[in-house]
Amino acid sequence: MNFKPNSAIAAAVLAIALLAGSLATANEVRSQHGVVVTRSELASMAGTEAMAQGGNAVDAIVAAGFALAVTHPAAGNIGGGGFMVIRLADGTLFANDHREIAPAAAFRDMFLDADGDYNPQKALRSHQASGVPGSVAGLLTVHEKFGVLSREQVMAAGIRLAKEGFPLTEDLARQFSARKDQWLKSAGAKRVFLKPDESSYEPGELFVQADLALTLERISDQGRDGFYKGKTAQLIVEEMERGSGLISLDDLESYESVWRDPIVGDYRSYQVVSMPPPSSGGVLLVQMLNMLEPFHLSELGVATSSSMHLMVEIERRAYADRAIHLGDSDFYPVPIALLTNKGYALSRFKDFDSNKRSQSRDIAAGNLLVESEETTHLSAIDGKGNAVAYTTTLNSGYGSGIVVQGAGFLLNNEMDDFSSKPGVPNQFGLIGAEANAIEPRKRMLSSMTPTIVVHDNKPVIVTGSPGGSTIITTVLQVITNVLDHGMTLNDAVAQPRFHHQWLPDVVTLERNGFSTDVVDELQELDHEIKYRNAIGDANTAGSRDGWIIGVSDPRNTGYASGLLDPPQEKETVESPSR
Ligand code: DON
Repeated sequence: MNFKPNSAIAAAVLAIALLAGSLATANEVRSQHGVVVTRSELASMAGTEAMAQGGNAVDAIVAAGFALAVTHPAAGNIGGGGFMVIRLADGTLFANDHREIAPAAAFRDMFLDADGDYNPQKALRSHQASGVPGSVAGLLTVHEKFGVLSREQVMAAGIRLAKEGFPLTEDLARQFSARKDQWLKSAGAKRVFLKPDESSYEPGELFVQADLALTLERISDQGRDGFYKGKTAQLIVEEMERGSGLISLDDLESYESVWRDPIVGDYRSYQVVSMPPPSSGGVLLVQMLNMLEPFHLSELGVATSSSMHLMVEIERRAYADRAIHLGDSDFYPVPIALLTNKGYALSRFKDFDSNKRSQSRDIAAGNLLVESEETTHLSAIDGKGNAVAYTTTLNSGYGSGIVVQGAGFLLNNEMDDFSSKPGVPNQFGLIGAEANAIEPRKRMLSSMTPTIVVHDNKPVIVTGSPGGSTIITTVLQVITNVLDHGMTLNDAVAQPRFHHQWLPDVVTLERNGFSTDVVDELQELDHEIKYRNAIGDANTAGSRDGWIIGVSDPRNTGYASGLLDPPQEKETVESPSR
């Protein structure tokens, strides 16, 4: 293995499998000084290495984010976008939106064919599928505002991992090999994901990404100009020209991440802080918690048909609202205050019948669900109590599958998150309308839900997930499992998940997660049931009993890294003005 963390730091950066009590699992870590949880061990270590050098939770997430672009190319990225929710130890709240935007040349019907039908191939696997990437602008912006380490320090791990390589895990080697046909369609992707003779990498082989290392070095040296101008921008535009893509030099140069007011709700005695539009995540999460609040969920029990029926009916109504009302609030008047109002939730849910399901067709009309699993969520809390929830994505696993030749990174296919045709579902079965129609420079609606739950001035849960439309219900369940059902973070994350999204009108259950009695009872209430494999991947952190706890979701090979020894001293982070 070529990558070795600095050994002094490695000694301090230990993932500790707890050996006592119900928290005794290898996917959990406890620390007094900071934790970072991501989908990749090397990226989590990059985060706690930054903390060991005196960096705060923002430095750690930025370091982990750039490392994840190297070690988890399915979703970690510099060619995609994301959302970050930050709560400083003094209680101030920030939300950074670095969602991709539609290129200026995009137009409403660009994914419809001559017959006016939605063309998923074009929306998902073409050069036109890519929105203007936002991740680099976002990571650099949050770092400039809050970081105490230098840009070179927070990018060093990512550059090292790309330049020196790392041994491929079985999981990654399998994913690369399974997508061979896709790689062969992009000269850039072929160069990255296949060996020169076009054979696949084997597990354990060193995976070096020389072009990506150079791109990351340009960003490290020049800041945002290293990506949005000069050589990298030129390479992106040249890649666009290979496939009639729309991203121009002007689109790149003018891209900016945006500071937004987080969605802040309260649920029982907790404050819930999450992402506003263009994500639907925060609005729906708060709306669903508002509908839930009058009920005694704890008395209904965990994974019982009555608690699941209640939550399914809540989800049905919230997702119906999403389809009509949610989109980029810079382009469309999203009724955020109304949707997150407690009175609205009461009236929206007053037709709930605990003995009878409602029908989505009575609320509106809909269609079929297909899922992929590749966004990724990172959570961090540092020893001072600063907390960061960060969800980032290329949309589908490995995005459009197209790598910018010479720059070594994958492009997103986020344009499919727009509603290409009113009433026709996208890859997550989600439908939309005017609010989320394609317009030049508009941001496509998201479900990403980076969330921080606060109690007694402490970040008790820092969470989020991939999973497209299932992201919001995953976050809802992690939160209610802790706050209502009194679970540990670890149990709350491990608990089997279920999902309803209004349309299609089915309750989706994680296979083998629910008893046959519960399934029978749900069917007696006339719910249609479908099964699928894992829902979500909620890499979560929190504070409890004087400890900072990190939990990687057992559904995947993520990693919770904790800082064992106190970090080098750096100045305290202040809350700068926006
Ligand atoms: O922003 C969104 O909601 C989607 N692009 C997220 C994609 C995703 O979660 C893929 N993984 N399942």
